[in-house]
Amino acid sequence: MSTSTTSTRAPYQDASLPIPDRVADLLSRMTVAEKVGQMLQLDARDDLADHVLRRNVGSILHTSPDRILAAGELTLQTRLRIPLLVGEDCIHGHSFWPGATIYPTQLGMAASWDASLVEKVARATAVEVAATGIHWTFSPVLCIARDLRWGRVNETFGEDPHLIGELASAMVRGYQGDGLDDPTAILATAKHFAGYSETQGGRDASEADISRRKLRSWFLPPFERVAREGCRTFMLGYQSTDGVPITVNDWLLSDVLRGEWGYTGTLITDWDNVGRMVWEQHVQPDYAHAAAAAVKAGNDMVMNTPGFFEGALEAVARGMLASEDFDTAVGRILTLKFELGLFEDPRMPQDGLEAVVGQAAHADLNLEVARRSLVLLENDGTLPLSPAPHGGSPSPEHTGRVAVVGPLADDAQEQLGDWAGGSGQAGWLDGQPREMITTVLDGMRDVAPWEVVHARGADILTLEPDPAGATWPDGQPRPPVVRPVPADATQIAEAVAAARDADAVIAVVGDARGLYGEGRSTATLELIGGQIALLDALVETGTPVIVVLMASKPLVLPASVQRAAAVIWAANPGMQGGRAIAELITGAIEPSGRLPISFARHAGQQPTYYNQIRGQHGDRYADLSQAPAWAFGQGLSYTTVAYADLTLASTALGADDVISASVTLTNTGARPATETVQVYVRDEVTSVSWAVRELKTYRQVTVQPGESVQVPLELPVSACTIVDAVGNRVVEAGDFTLLVGPSSREEDLLAAEFTVL
Ligand code: NOJ
Repeated sequence: MSTSTTSTRAPYQDASLPIPDRVADLLSRMTVAEKVGQMLQLDARDDLADHVLRRNVGSILHTSPDRILAAGELTLQTRLRIPLLVGEDCIHGHSFWPGATIYPTQLGMAASWDASLVEKVARATAVEVAATGIHWTFSPVLCIARDLRWGRVNETFGEDPHLIGELASAMVRGYQGDGLDDPTAILATAKHFAGYSETQGGRDASEADISRRKLRSWFLPPFERVAREGCRTFMLGYQSTDGVPITVNDWLLSDVLRGEWGYTGTLITDWDNVGRMVWEQHVQPDYAHAAAAAVKAGNDMVMNTPGFFEGALEAVARGMLASEDFDTAVGRILTLKFELGLFEDPRMPQDGLEAVVGQAAHADLNLEVARRSLVLLENDGTLPLSPAPHGGSPSPEHTGRVAVVGPLADDAQEQLGDWAGGSGQAGWLDGQPREMITTVLDGMRDVAPWEVVHARGADILTLEPDPAGATWPDGQPRPPVVRPVPADATQIAEAVAAARDADAVIAVVGDARGLYGEGRSTATLELIGGQIALLDALVETGTPVIVVLMASKPLVLPASVQRAAAVIWAANPGMQGGRAIAELITGAIEPSGRLPISFARHAGQQPTYYNQIRGQHGDRYADLSQAPAWAFGQGLSYTTVAYADLTLASTALGADDVISASVTLTNTGARPATETVQVYVRDEVTSVSWAVRELKTYRQVTVQPGESVQVPLELPVSACTIVDAVGNRVVEAGDFTLLVGPSSREEDLLAAEFTVL
């Protein structure tokens, strides 16, 4: 091995050479310690000099604007001057960069069902992220959200594998742009591979009790799609399956991902996965064994296990690993760096960042995606609010006033949700600039032709130190404990008075930081704090109540909401959310969002996802329906659209044929509709038990008032698969039903039968 310094130009520094040659040259010059360090990604909030100069890290994450520059300087002091890959969780915008554009959460964006819009958001995010010296986003999340108690539902695209695949693919395209030599491209990460969300009781990172067949049936397809489409990195989850931590799951990592799917991208562990095998899961006796197992299982980059450095070197000293065992992983990491051109230009933060980060064009895009993320769940005709209620001239009682109440009506930082300025993961900022954010109160004041009055009405929670201590026995911090704030009679009385004196009351309720995120699953799904008492009291006033549920995930609403005039789900709608909500309420825009996930009536109904396996005794609990409150795909417009005449061009099809169908949509109301025409398939008899129906495709169509539109629909027969008893994805000949309509509910779907020969 050469020990020469970099004073003369080495082949790896020659940009005219092919990348594989540069990688081979650099690898041949690296010591074992340099190779081990290259596999490490450490937390930039810790001792950066130690990371770069002693542990030779290949990558850092959670880097404040100042520390990116410091890290770059340190790299120049290293022997081989290998540039750092800088990663960050930019998952709905550039989460922790002051003044960056923060969009609706992934779940909010999913309600648009609009892949091209999601791609634009990812592109705009990449433009902001790349300009700040960050090369890699840990996004998108492809986990299937089935248990609503899980704290990370907000990070997902919801419950359906097909919708997840469409939107994740779009997001990856948006991030990666025209290829890594595009200066605005960033590396995308498909995470968390695979089955992490299949928790026990919604408890974060608990065992994923999931069979290989079930993984292949629903959890793997979105990952397979983006793997084959060139998503450059994959991140593992935290889960163990059948006793095997994902970090050493040879079947998933080697046989399936790299073998069957031919994936050549880079694998990164999740946070301290390698250490967790020692101190949490107790499946490795020490860091030497854990490091050896992780390397042998094909992990490329190890996120935040500082002890991997010493552990891997000890494994080499003890003969458990050889120097060459690191070459494949290090070669992949170096290839990314060469492809990004970092050796020539380490892509440090650009001059003139202010013109790029948080730019006006991105605010416009953000408003558009916020509008499309809103789902109108109920409406008794009160919406859109008109200055002359109910369409006539103002009645004598008309006050010309609207009350905007609730703990989330004017809370700019809570509106942004998790992984955003103030959500706690980054220590260097408390939130995003207030002036960039429009709350519902701001939005109504801006767009509504009424007097707008405000009362908070209730609080949600306080966060208190865990009485069990600040840290776990291993030194990791314990999250604070949530204490619901009891209903306050004075606050409620103020809100009730405001509501009584108004034509309508908009109540913005939901959840707050502390009730979602990593390690923050909830046992209940109800509104907490004084919110239920507030809603009950508002409904009693007789003033129409418009409930805006600004919640990270579907929550269970109290019985009084059945008497509300309207219900809107807004997820965490991003910086422009308040304006979008005000536009929806006042009818400046049409509601078009559709649920990417089902809402439960009670936490005890979990899970409520629509594509359940056929076969159980009965169809309800003794004390409650099994039906969700609102199902996947549901969402109202300000008009009604009738579906009719579902016809198939042919009802006997071969395995290579395409199902060709059409359905007629008629707008029977007075306002335009953006309709999401959903196409489900039921395989009538399957060799193994299977889902009652599955979304296979969808189309978004605008229908003007009074207009009828014939919508052509096409679906390859090859999409009508099941996974058989031995794990093969196959189309089984026999009878099928094509189901077309505005939601996943059987009663909303037209049916047409066909046979696969
Ligand atoms: C742990 C989370 O599970 C993962 O999604 C995230 O990307 C990393 N931490 C880095 O913040």
